[in-house]
Amino acid sequence: MTDSRGSTSVALSKPRIGTGLSVEQALAQRRSVRTFADRSVSLADLSQLLWAAQGITGHFDKRTAPSAGALHQMSIAVVAADVDALPAGIYRYDPALHDLALLSEGDHRDELRSATDQQEAIGVSPVDLVIAGDARPLVDKYGDRGIRYLHMEAGHIAQNVYLQATALGLATASMGAFDDDAMSQAVRLPSPHRALYVMPIGYA
Ligand SMILES: Cc1cc2nc3c(=O)[nH]c(=O)nc-3n(C[C@H](O)[C@H](O)[C@H](O)COP(=O)(O)O)c2cc1C
Repeated sequence: MTDSRGSTSVALSKPRIGTGLSVEQALAQRRSVRTFADRSVSLADLSQLLWAAQGITGHFDKRTAPSAGALHQMSIAVVAADVDALPAGIYRYDPALHDLALLSEGDHRDELRSATDQQEAIGVSPVDLVIAGDARPLVDKYGDRGIRYLHMEAGHIAQNVYLQATALGLATASMGAFDDDAMSQAVRLPSPHRALYVMPIGYA
């Protein structure tokens, strides 16, 4: 449906809490995995991953991942190619509404793979998450240290995704090797946002 943001949006499933592995089991089993089963990812599992990455869990925009000064300048782009009940396309996760806003229809994995210098996992993953952030509000508040904080926040989010993926039987890897400009273009990042991590996702 078209919403007040002027974009087509897709509602996500409510987060499930208390199912799956213990934190200790997920930590013990977590691994970077770059090959995936040949089957689509369920929208419920994608919803759960996005909630783990940046879901809102408290008052004043508090989220699953910590944020310096609670400024929360991170964003998650979703490059969906093979997700049940989700048309292929590039989406932006909206934590406040827990939904996906469509940015561009179609399978964009080739563009994404080119931006990562042809890393093989990218072309074969049913869905990819791109963790990005806008350093400016952090630099305004903390000076140059704000850049460091942005990178730390990306690490927190990526670890949440790793652990949630492990608990769901999904495989992923955090990838930092890509061309910044090509990645920004590939996932239609709004200009102050820069990509920090790409995480291909599929069942193990
Ligand atoms: C900052 C950072 C950048 C990384 N970039 C890539 C990458 O571009 N491609 C890739 O396949 N793996 C990448 N990795 C994953 C590492 O190769 C992986 O974490 C390492 O081999 C340890 O394996 P494990 O995660 O299974 O424990 C990156 C990891 C980190 C922390």
